[in-house]
Amino acid sequence: MSRLVVVSNRVSLPGENRAGGLAVALQAALGERGGLWFGWSGKVVRGPGGEVHEQRDAEIRYVTVDLDRADHDAYYNGFSNRTLWPLLHFRLDLVDYDRATREGYRRVNALFADKLAPLLREDDTVWIHDYHLIPLASLLRERGIGCRIGFFLHVPVPSADLLMAMPDHQRLMSTLYSYDLVGFQTRRDRDRFHSYVRLYGGGRIVGDDELEAPGGRRFRTGAFPISIDTAHIARQAAAAMSKPAVRQLQTSLERRLLAIGVDRLDYSKGLPERFHGFERYLQRHPDQKGSLTYLQIAPVSRGDVGEYQVLRSQLEQIAGHINGGHAEPDWTPLRYVNRNFPHPTLTGFYRSARVGLVTPLRDGMNLVAKEYVAAQDPENPGVLVLSLLAGAAQEMGEALLVNPHDLDGVADAIASAATMPLSRRKERWHAMFDYLRIHDIHAWRRSYLAALESCGATGGITPDG
Ligand code: G6P
Repeated sequence: MSRLVVVSNRVSLPGENRAGGLAVALQAALGERGGLWFGWSGKVVRGPGGEVHEQRDAEIRYVTVDLDRADHDAYYNGFSNRTLWPLLHFRLDLVDYDRATREGYRRVNALFADKLAPLLREDDTVWIHDYHLIPLASLLRERGIGCRIGFFLHVPVPSADLLMAMPDHQRLMSTLYSYDLVGFQTRRDRDRFHSYVRLYGGGRIVGDDELEAPGGRRFRTGAFPISIDTAHIARQAAAAMSKPAVRQLQTSLERRLLAIGVDRLDYSKGLPERFHGFERYLQRHPDQKGSLTYLQIAPVSRGDVGEYQVLRSQLEQIAGHINGGHAEPDWTPLRYVNRNFPHPTLTGFYRSARVGLVTPLRDGMNLVAKEYVAAQDPENPGVLVLSLLAGAAQEMGEALLVNPHDLDGVADAIASAATMPLSRRKERWHAMFDYLRIHDIHAWRRSYLAALESCGATGGITPDG
């Protein structure tokens, strides 16, 4: 088995206990076969960037690079999060395109390529993650790297007509043609990428999962829905019920039901719409008034980016408005919390909640939806209210599926979830949990790597091969 090299903007270094499910799965893959994890060090330095740090943990080597302020601003705050993130989430209205940040993005990708290329061996398998690093394979190829390189996009792919609205779209998108395998969260994302390649990308589709770039190089695509460590989360949630933070939450509810939402504070998550949907629930279902408290945990994210700051103040205003209009002296309907909690505690919160609210306007997958299901008590499971516009909806049809723009629909789904009889809750939950037990994060990384390793190395599949 060849050595695995994982590349991502954020690297989960040994000893950091904020590692999520993805980090654990990648570490497991790296540990099994020995490997290297490469990416940004998390440090923004004053002087020139580019300093490389290295550490080791058993079979895994971690190599990370510092970025200077200007590069980080252009690459991360700028092109990644003010151009690509909104574009990929269908939000052309929020796209801020600037040639200077585009160049910064390219500069950081080239810096990564410069630092990574000398570390690579011919028979390595390289797996690059997410929208921060789209051009990395082509920059590595320019530096003579011929080994197998795969990409996985953790966010959605918008329609071809949105993608082509980005100035110079071909220059960026055509760098994807240097990979051997380009993986997406769902078949729909893969299909939208195919239609972009066909309509605006100058390439053609030569097989179900095979594309040909202008010039004849062939490469594969595929849908690999990411998942969670289901068994681990189920165990963690059961154990978390005795944690003080979880007990305190339960006591504070005073026998009321709990609805929970946990999201990064991001406009793709549909939080203003969700708050309004909850308000609509209070208005449309007065018989349920006072029986359910909604806890929204929304840690601040990308706080240097203007759109995120605007969202934060908008949510504070809406939350104040809802509580002002509906609270009682002894009951606050909406608890809005901007901090994060340790992951085990969150799983205990999920298990305490009769209703899980996951209503993004767009989401590549949404792992909170899957974690909420995995964390439930099999004898008394809660009900997931899930947006049709999250990738997870493709796999979790037993959730109460809603359109997050339809406030009445969201309101009624909250009401049905809160009153659903135990037998129906169990039925729906079982179907989803059984699915997640098989389709977990380990199955995901195995299937991706098997697909990548079935591609020929050095320059993709030849037209005859
Ligand atoms: C999304 C992206 C990830 C990113 C995460 C947190 O899930 O797909 O690549 O790491 O958000 O965002 P941040 O900007 O804090 O890395």
